[in-house]
Amino acid sequence: MTFKHQLELTQVGIDFPTPKGPFTALTDVNLRIQKGEFISLIGHSGCGKSTVLNLVAGLNQATTGGVILEGQEVNEPGPERAVVFQNHSLLPWLSAYKNVELAVKQTRSGRSKKEIKDWVEHNLELVHMTHAADKLPSEISGGMKQRVGIARALAMQPKVLLMDEPFGALDALTRAHLQDSVMEIHSKLGNTVIMITHDVDEAVLLSDRIVMMTNGPAATIGEILPIELQRPRNRIELADDAKYNHYRHEVLKFLYEKQRKVESVDSHRKNKQKNASPVTLKTGSDKE
Ligand SMILES: Nc1ncnc2c1ncn2[C@@H]1O[C@H](COP(=O)(O)OP(=O)(O)O)[C@@H](O)[C@H]1O
Ligand SMILES: [Mg+2]
Repeated sequence: MTFKHQLELTQVGIDFPTPKGPFTALTDVNLRIQKGEFISLIGHSGCGKSTVLNLVAGLNQATTGGVILEGQEVNEPGPERAVVFQNHSLLPWLSAYKNVELAVKQTRSGRSKKEIKDWVEHNLELVHMTHAADKLPSEISGGMKQRVGIARALAMQPKVLLMDEPFGALDALTRAHLQDSVMEIHSKLGNTVIMITHDVDEAVLLSDRIVMMTNGPAATIGEILPIELQRPRNRIELADDAKYNHYRHEVLKFLYEKQRKVESVDSHRKNKQKNASPVTLKTGSDKE
């Protein structure tokens, strides 16, 4: 069965219970995503990006509205929605190979030993980690750990790959390599991807659409920017591309003008002499 939209978020609102009463994190979030789309979620820290992602992952429950994946309501975690977190979350006592194998065994029962081995190796190859398959997480770099985390998620053959600031803790060069790998994998496999990022360049380079969120509380989608750049995309060529820079500018404008993050009056007074910037978002861009 084919669906016009693979994933639909309709009138989603989330209230979290707190000691002071319910805190409305999200309100009226509406988003339709087509199969194979690469979506970035961008917005200031604390606006509700992870709350949206965790809702799709089935880790959060909507207070109003809901999420439908291929005609089925989402209300618990499942292997068709694999998550990659910022901090790899690999099991430290298992090798890279064993970490991926565990996910395969958990989600794809009824396969022969040979089929499992081939599938684990295939996924490690996709992220260029074949050479370090037998290393423990403590023996590989942060970027390599994220690669294994991505291999583990892909090995579950998810319909939707969810990534919460997957490269946020990495240095700029490592991040660039991983972005290239993710673009390559996306073009090969065609999974639907939802990625949270703080990095404006990363969002423009990777996405088909950038979903920009307003500041919380009661955050919602402010604007959606379609990125009509041909693929494959090359970061060096795009650096001088007028369209690329236009998109980049649009995202910056949204974040720093339309949704400028203003501190409370008190903290503003305290910081005034220090000449502190009211903007807490880091773009991670070398050009800033
Ligand atoms: N379980 C929870 N209980 C109460 N408040 C929460 C909970 N999870 C998130 N929040 C609040 O919801 C808002 C959005 O959080 P989050 O989605 O983590 O933001 P982001 O990922 O954009 O930085 C924040 O104000 C946060 O404190
Ligand atoms: Mg978050």
